[in-house]
Amino acid sequence: MTTSSGPTRADAERLDAASPLAHTRSRFVLPDGLTYLDGNSLGARPVGVTERLAAVVEREWGDGLIRSWNDARWMELVGRIGARIGPLIGARGEDLHLGDSTSVSLFKTMVAATRLRPGRRVIVVEPSTFPTDGYVAAGVADLLGLELRWCDPADPAASVDDDVALVNLTHVDFRTGAMFDLAAITAAVQSKGALVQWDLCHSAGAVPVDLTAADADFAVGCTYKYLNGGPGSPAFLWVNPRLQGTARQPITGWMGHAAPFAMTREYQPVAGVGQFASGTPPVLALSALETALDAFDGVGMGQIRAASLSLTDFFIALVDARLGLDIVTPRDHSRRGSQVSLRHPDAYGIVQALIARGVVGDFRDPDVARFGFTPLYVGHGDVFDAVEHLVAVLEHDEHLDPAYAQRNVVT
Ligand SMILES: Cc1ncc(COP(=O)(O)O)c(C=O)c1O
Repeated sequence: MTTSSGPTRADAERLDAASPLAHTRSRFVLPDGLTYLDGNSLGARPVGVTERLAAVVEREWGDGLIRSWNDARWMELVGRIGARIGPLIGARGEDLHLGDSTSVSLFKTMVAATRLRPGRRVIVVEPSTFPTDGYVAAGVADLLGLELRWCDPADPAASVDDDVALVNLTHVDFRTGAMFDLAAITAAVQSKGALVQWDLCHSAGAVPVDLTAADADFAVGCTYKYLNGGPGSPAFLWVNPRLQGTARQPITGWMGHAAPFAMTREYQPVAGVGQFASGTPPVLALSALETALDAFDGVGMGQIRAASLSLTDFFIALVDARLGLDIVTPRDHSRRGSQVSLRHPDAYGIVQALIARGVVGDFRDPDVARFGFTPLYVGHGDVFDAVEHLVAVLEHDEHLDPAYAQRNVVT
C-alpha cells in the first residue's frame, strides 16, 4: 500500500461543480447512500420508467388489450428506439433492429455474415472476448460446417486470410476495459476480404462509436448496461445498409415477413433490417427502454466521453497514490473504455467487502474487480468515496472475511 496523497475530496468537488453533466444525475433513481459503480453490468433506473411501465401495463395492456397494437402503436416501438440509439453509435435508426438478447442477435448476424462469404469457412473470434460471443460462434460453425479460429488480441487482423468470412470482436473488453481501434481494425480486416462484426455491449452509451464512418459490416449490443434499459432489456443489432439487400438471417419468423398479417405460406422477408425480426416484439421491455433513453436527452457522446475519461483518470490516480494496486485497464485514453479493473488475488472478497460498505462494483473470474463509471449518474465525489472505502477494506482485511469464501451465483 502506498501513502502518497493523490487527488483530494476538494479536487473531486471542484471537478463535479464544473461538470456539464452535473444535472443528469437527477435523471436516475438511486438508493440513498449507495455508490454505484456497476453500470457496466446493469445500468441504474432512469426517472419515469416505473410510471411508463405502469401506464403500459394498466392502460395499454389492461384497458386497451389487443387494440393497443394499433392504438398505442406498439409496432412502432422498435423503430422509435432505433432512432434514439442510432446517433449514439454512428448509425441511422432505420438500420437497427431490437428484440432479442445479444446472444440471439449474434447468432442471427453471424449466420447472415458467413452466408455472405460462401467460399470462406472460418469465423475469427478474440480469445478474451465475452464468452457468449465464442460460444455462439462455435455453435454457428458447428451448424454450418465452418471452423472457429482464435486470433491474437494484439493484432486481430493478422489472423485473416482467404478462408476467413467474419471477424467478431468485442469493442471494449468486459474484463479489462481495454478498447480496440474500431475504424483501423475494420479497415484492416475488410482489406483482406472478410467481414467485421463489433459487439458494442460495453461501448453503446459509454464511448463514442461511429459505425458509419468506419463502414463496419455488422454490430450488436445490449441495452441494459450504459443505456439503462433494465434487466434483460432487448439488444440491438445493426446491419450496414450496403449489406441489407443480400444479408439473410436464419430465424425467418413472421415478424420479419414483408406482410405478416397476410398470413401467406411462403416466407418473403421485408426489405431492410426489419427482416432480422423473428417473433412478437417484447412490448413491456421496449417501453421501459424507450423511456430510459430520455436520460440521454441533450447530451452528446463527446460530453459523456470527456466525463468518463475524467472519472477513470481520477480513480486511477487515487488507486496509484493510495494503494498501488495492479490496474489492468489501459492508461492510454485511446485504448480505455468506461471502466477500470483491478487485479488482486482476493478480488472477489474485495468486491463483496465494498458492497457491504455500500460501494457496488463486481468481480470477474479469475481475479478481477471491475468498476464501471457511467457519467450520467456517477461523479468524482463517488469515485473519491469508493477509493476511501477500498483503502479501509484493505487496511482492516475486510476482504478476507470467511463469509466471502463462497461465491454468489452472480458475481
Ligand atoms: C460483451 C458482451 N457480449 C454479450 C453479452 C451477453 O449478452 P446477452 O445476455 O444479452 O446475450 C455480454 C453481457 O454482459 C457482454 O458483456
